[in-house]
Order: sequence, then C-alpha cells, then structure tokens
Amino acid sequence: MDIPVNETERQLYYIEKCREIVEGLEKEYGRKLTCGIFTFGCQMNFHDSEKIRASLERMGFVPTDTEDADFVLYNTCTVRENANERVYGRLGQIKALKKKRNDRMIIALCGCMMQEPHVIEKIRKSYGYVDIVFGTHNIYKMAELLYRRLTSGSQIIDIWKEAKDIVEDVPADRKFSFKAGVNIMYGCNNFCSYCIVPYVRGRERSREPEDIVKEVKQYVEDGAKEVMLLGQNVNSYGKNLERDVTFAGLLKMMEDIPGLERIRFMTSHPKDLSDELIKVMAESDRICKHIHLPLQSGSSRILKAMNRHYTKEQYLELVDKLKAAMPDISITTDIIVGFPGEDDDDLEETLDVVRKAGFDSAFTFQYSKRTGTPAAAMENQVSEEDMTRRFNRLLEVVQETATARTARFEGKTAGVLVEDINRQDKSMVTGRLENNTVVHFKGDASLIGKIVDVRLDECKGFYYIGSAVDS
Ligand code: SAH
Ligand code: SF4
Ligand code: F3S
Repeated sequence: MDIPVNETERQLYYIEKCREIVEGLEKEYGRKLTCGIFTFGCQMNFHDSEKIRASLERMGFVPTDTEDADFVLYNTCTVRENANERVYGRLGQIKALKKKRNDRMIIALCGCMMQEPHVIEKIRKSYGYVDIVFGTHNIYKMAELLYRRLTSGSQIIDIWKEAKDIVEDVPADRKFSFKAGVNIMYGCNNFCSYCIVPYVRGRERSREPEDIVKEVKQYVEDGAKEVMLLGQNVNSYGKNLERDVTFAGLLKMMEDIPGLERIRFMTSHPKDLSDELIKVMAESDRICKHIHLPLQSGSSRILKAMNRHYTKEQYLELVDKLKAAMPDISITTDIIVGFPGEDDDDLEETLDVVRKAGFDSAFTFQYSKRTGTPAAAMENQVSEEDMTRRFNRLLEVVQETATARTARFEGKTAGVLVEDINRQDKSMVTGRLENNTVVHFKGDASLIGKIVDVRLDECKGFYYIGSAVDS
C-alpha cells in the first residue's frame, strides 16, 4: 500500500504499521505492551494527551498510570519555570527504569517546552536516552515518528517552528464519554509581555465551525452531555477565518445540537468579551453560567506593561455587566503577583478588584521569567521576598472572598453532573454544578455521567456537601 498523502489518512496508516510491530513484540514478550502518558500544563495539553492515548490504544498499547511501561511520554508545559523543572526531575528518575528494562523502553517528549531551542539543545546534549521528541505543531504525527523510531533505532527529534494547516484529528475514544474537550482554535496572538504561549503555540488559528459542530455531534451521539470549547482566547474565535463568524455565533450553533446539555468554554480574554456573547450566554439554558476571565493584575499601570489592553475600571465594568445579565454567574480568574515593576500599591489595586469582583475562585501565580518574552528583559524585577509576601497576602484575600461567594447557593437545589466516585469516601460521588463548583454527595457508580438534582447542604469553602433529592 502506498503511503497516503492526506495527513489524517497518513497517520492512520502509520498507526496500523505500529500495530503490526506491537503485535510482534507482544508475542516476543508474552504479554501486552503498556504506555504511560504524563501531562503537565493546561486543558489544551490534556486534550492533546487524550488524542495521543487513543492512537496508542489503537496500536495495541494498554494505558497504565506508572512510568514502568514500554512507552512513556511526557507532554510538557513551559508557562512557568517550575513546570520545566518537574519534567527534568522526572527524566532523571526514568533513566534508571530504562536501564532496568535493558533499554527496551521508549521515552518520548512533546508539548510546549519542546518548542524552545535551548531545551532541545539540552536534550541532545544530556538526555541521549530520550527516543522521540516532537513539538506542539506536529503532535498529530506521533504515530509516524514512533514508527520511524521502532524501525530505525535512532533518536528522533522533529520540531517545527510554525504550524502548517490545521490537521483534523484521527477519530479517537475519549476518557470521559459524558464530557468532552474540543479545540476551537490553536495558538495565541496576544503577546502578553510575560507569556511564552504565543512563542510555543504559534499564531492564532480557528477551526472551521462545521468541523467543530461535526465533532461535537459525534461526541453527543457517543453519550456526551457536556462539551468544553478550548482556546487560549476563545473570544477572538473566527477572526482569521474567511467567513464572518464570531464566538457568540459558534455558541449559537452549539445550542442547536440536540442532546447537548452543558456548553462550557475557556479561556476568555477580557479585552474581546463582546456584549453579543453576554447576551447569548444570558439567554441560553445550556451555556453554563461560568466564565474564566483572567485578571492578571488589578493595577492599570501593570496591566499596560503586561500588554493586556484593558484597565482596572474596564475589567470591573465587565464584571458588572456579566452580573447584571446573569446574577448567579460564577467568575473565576488568574492573577500574577511580582510582575517587573510591581510595588505594594499595585498589589492593593489587585486586592481591591478581588474584593469588588467577587470571584468564585482564583488561580494565583508568582511571576516566572520566561526567556524571550519582553518582560524577561525589563528592569526592576521583583525580589523573591516581596513576591512571596505579596503572594501570601493575595491568597488570604482570595480565600476569604471566594469562600463567601461560593456559599451563595447553600440550601438550594441544583443539577450536578456526576463525574466520579469520591476518592476519599467510596460511598459518595463527585460532580460539578453548572457553574463548575464541585459537589460531593451520597451515591454510587450508576450515577456517573448523569445530571442529578442535589440539595447543597453545606458549603466547605471551595466545594459543597449535598444530598440527592428524589425527582
Ligand atoms: N490564555 C489564557 C492563559 C494561559 S496561561 C489567558 O490569557 O487567559 C494560564 C495562566 O498562567 C495565565 O492566565 C497567567 O495567569 C499565568 N501565567 C502565564 N505566564 C506566566 C508567567 N510568566 N509567570 C507566572 N504566571 C504566568
Ligand atoms: Fe498568554 Fe496572554 Fe495569550 Fe493568554 S492571552 S496565552 S496570557 S499571551
Ligand atoms: Fe503550558 Fe503550553 Fe498550556 S505552556 S499552559 S501547556 S499552552
């Protein structure tokens, strides 16, 4: 058979080729081959890992949670330095495991860290036992690269500087059949001055709405109740497409899909959040009343240096608009402390927004210098000591305000989409409210994937303990 030209078919061809080799190895080893996939970073990476796992399963690998496996892959993140350090730590440990298996183990690295030339240099130099390295733009080529490794035995490093056309996925099985992530766009054009994502994920590219609708319909047919539309800045969806389509327009198309009960999306950049989107959200009974709206800083001066294109006042105005249209809405956020030039007054501004906005929760980060970003070259980097002090102060205020806000549904009854058996107490299940808050209540595995009416008895800070009500 000739190697297909169409990329999706080509990868299916290589999956089949790998499957033949895996079958041979199974006979030789007298057992199934296993694969361990370890993911760092954001929802995008987790989504990519799901697709990779599905391809590996097609080849005959059995997924496992341990690194003592025949194929081990680290899908990396580089948004903050500590994400990188964790990967190097794991690589150090796995070397001994590979030796124990007489080198008959394939180690692969992919994801955002691999798009950084200094990382690749380091891997070439000091990590000769890594077998396959690929980046964010050619992730769909994993099967082909694995085939090359299996047939050649040499280290394969394949990194592309830029993305080519969007390649539609090889059909995959998803881990949660009731809940699916869907990429609606790739990359980012915003170049916030601290952030490395635009450099490692490339320019913004939106998928055609028909392709997205087709994928979501397939998920719903397979039993999905909820979809999460994924992009670094979903509010600018459609800007690079020839036809006139906005994110609000895409959401409306999602609403027309019968059987889809919950529609989520992330992340929203405040600068592009339109009135049209607020209206579509408010009028819908299927779009979840939750928005992740990263603030980053409450100081207009710092926001300008961050290249965020909004002020403190504009952010608060947006929050008011959202709450006026949807009084119960949950707003969650990301905040960075210690951006270059930040002082204690700037932190006060941030705390002021935290108090006024009433976030349901906030992810808080200490600024991490990323090579190649404008902020890395800025003078007046903040000292470790000031950063930690401000971080702790921010955490205190976030916890105080978020706990108070989350408790607003205490005593009410609401739908919970059950996700899993509770890890600590097996007589309970865990799920999420429409607004994404976690709820634990008495129940069993038969409820997984169902939306159950639950009385929210007690708020425990960031989550609820509830009890199912008979309907
Ligand atoms: N596209 C999303 C964010 C993706 S990165 C958005 O703009 O909203 C997730 C979060 O990591 C960011 O919101 C930011 O708070 C944090 N982050 C990004 N770069 C960082 C850095 N250099 N140091 C610390 N935190 C950072
Ligand atoms: Fe990074 Fe800003 Fe793009 Fe988010 S919008 S990924 S913070 S550059
Ligand atoms: Fe990390 Fe890449 Fe996501 S750098 S946050 S995994 S886009």
